[in-house]
Amino acid sequence: MTTTATNPNRIPDKFREAMSAFPSGVTLMTTTGADGEPRGFAASSFCSVSIDPALVLVCIGKTAQCHDAFVENDQWSIQIAGAAHVDLINRFSTKGADKFGGGEFVPDHRGVPILPDAAVLIECEAHARYDGGDHTILVARVIEIDLDDRPALLYFQREFRHLDHHDAGAF
Ligand SMILES: Cc1cc2nc3c(=O)[nH]c(=O)nc-3n(C[C@H](O)[C@H](O)[C@H](O)COP(=O)(O)O)c2cc1C
Repeated sequence: MTTTATNPNRIPDKFREAMSAFPSGVTLMTTTGADGEPRGFAASSFCSVSIDPALVLVCIGKTAQCHDAFVENDQWSIQIAGAAHVDLINRFSTKGADKFGGGEFVPDHRGVPILPDAAVLIECEAHARYDGGDHTILVARVIEIDLDDRPALLYFQREFRHLDHHDAGAF
């Protein structure tokens, strides 16, 4: 453990490294733009906020091309990715990629793209948006949940990992 004073210029690098030491899952967050086209991005900043009402949050970078779509449209869907979704996550985290070109998503009853084989599918709508530095904090009210039996994917130290690995069992 290093506790020596950090040069302020090095905080962002050290911060990224610290965050990579915190295991998370990966979500694919989707909506539609003003033009009716699907929009989305990969996000590991997903977490629960409140049980009653059921609220979750995801932070989106203000420079993301899809940022304005999530500000202008209140209807969102959050899918927790499974082990089969590594290629999809890579596409969803690549600016300018044809994210929906693979045909994995279908529109739900609101027209929001959903991933039918997600580990967990959360239909949600905007509850609040807050400034979060270079990100916008999107707080979502949960409307419907679809749970699948497939385990979620893990993201740890900038690598995707799967839960059935020999050293990934429960204590
Ligand atoms: C595992 C992983 C997690 C990510 N988590 C977030 C996140 O929580 N918030 C965010 O804004 N970008 C996150 N990103 C980066 C975005 O997915 C990426 O910048 C995306 O291309 C932004 O959308 P755009 O293509 O519309 O610009 C993550 C990328 C990866 C690979």
